[in-house]
Amino acid sequence: MSEHLHTSLKEKIDLERLPKHIAIIMDGNGRWAKSKGKPRIFGHQSGVTAVREAAESAAELGVSYLTLYAFSTENWTRPRMEVNALMRLLLQTIKDEVVTLNKNNIRLNAIGDLDSLPKLNKEHLLRAMDQTSHNDRMTLTLALSYSSRWEIIQAARKLAAEVEQGELKAGDVDQHCIERFLTTFGMPDPELLIRTSGETRLSNFMLWQIAYAELYFSKKFWPEFRKADLYEAIIDFQCRERRFGKTSEQITKQNNKE
Ligand code: IPE
Ligand code: IPE
Ligand code: MG
Repeated sequence: MSEHLHTSLKEKIDLERLPKHIAIIMDGNGRWAKSKGKPRIFGHQSGVTAVREAAESAAELGVSYLTLYAFSTENWTRPRMEVNALMRLLLQTIKDEVVTLNKNNIRLNAIGDLDSLPKLNKEHLLRAMDQTSHNDRMTLTLALSYSSRWEIIQAARKLAAEVEQGELKAGDVDQHCIERFLTTFGMPDPELLIRTSGETRLSNFMLWQIAYAELYFSKKFWPEFRKADLYEAIIDFQCRERRFGKTSEQITKQNNKE
């Protein structure tokens, strides 16, 4: 893409109406590699470049939270060789990126069943999170060994324990009580959810949090996803009317008042 087209796309974005939180289901690494006659892991390696671009461009624009679905609970059922290669790649990437994250003032965060990760991965991940914890331009969250049902189950267990101990009445359970135990507690819900590779499903990702997210599906495989593709998704998002159950007339009136 020419630099000119790139800039003109970026200029179409209304910086006053950016989504605060963008979540991405990074899909299509394997198919992209296959189309090039390469092994699947080559696709995952190339996907790291796209992660870097997405993080950089979101931070540059002023997005506060970027969450990337990197490895699902169900991904453990892939061939062992692929899982091992993915874990090695994750470890290497975490080690390599801390300097850049600090340079870009980005805080690293992770959600998911981190205890199920290899010990070394968990250690380096926690260290990288600690080493970037002072950064405040953007929070980059990696969903690792994450699935929404896993998250809801662990939240339900913690809630049930409070009820069991008499700290909470069953009738007092409300939205806030549940959110308190979700791994995303403290973050705003994603306003824009992007999935690459042409698949139009959620694959167990943030089912609670995306109740009112705008969904955007890109045909590009994740390793091909570039800054301009993120800009296009945001421009598309900004053209939509988010009604939250109200009527279009109510929304227009509300916007005119602001
Ligand atoms: C996404 O790419 C990365 C992970 C799920 C780890 P895939 O590995 O799912 O690639 P495809 O969908 O098989 O092409
Ligand atoms: C979803 O992709 C999980 C991640 C992107 C980490 P998958 O490739 O695992 O999803 P399905 O199996 O096609 O639904
Ligand atoms: Mg896939």
